[in-house]
Amino acid sequence: MKKILVIHGPNMHLLGQRQKEIYGQATLEDINKELKKLAKECGIEIIDYQSNHEGDIVDKIGSANIEKFSAILINPAAYTHTSVAIRDAILSVNLPTVEVHLSNIYSREDFRHKSLIAPVVHGQISGFGVNSYLLGLQAVIGIIKK
Ligand code: DQA
Repeated sequence: MKKILVIHGPNMHLLGQRQKEIYGQATLEDINKELKKLAKECGIEIIDYQSNHEGDIVDKIGSANIEKFSAILINPAAYTHTSVAIRDAILSVNLPTVEVHLSNIYSREDFRHKSLIAPVVHGQISGFGVNSYLLGLQAVIGIIKK
């Protein structure tokens, strides 16, 4: 069975209590459950990983080939806008990767309008709440099943 690595960046463990008017009521556990349900229906295994630390995320991406992942679904959270290291890690492993955001980053503060990650992934889905993740998962499964 093919495996997809799902990465959640900093502060995503606080979903459900964090700025609910922007990020909604769902907890990270709720999101992971929904992703696993959809993945199972598609015959795919999901491994989820959350970290508040840039280097840990870089390490996790860097080991994705050794750990036999076929693709990556990532919400880099605040690191979207700052991390050359995460961008370079994605480039280094050369796996199909889709970037997702719960909120529409282009309708928020100017500093969120720039993603350092978007130019090096297959595509970005932003602004659909939990559905951003589900759409992103469908997109990445579509790529690896082609
Ligand atoms: C986010 C958007 C980022 O700008 C922010 O820093 C986050 C969450 C989102 O899912 O909407 O932490 O990635």
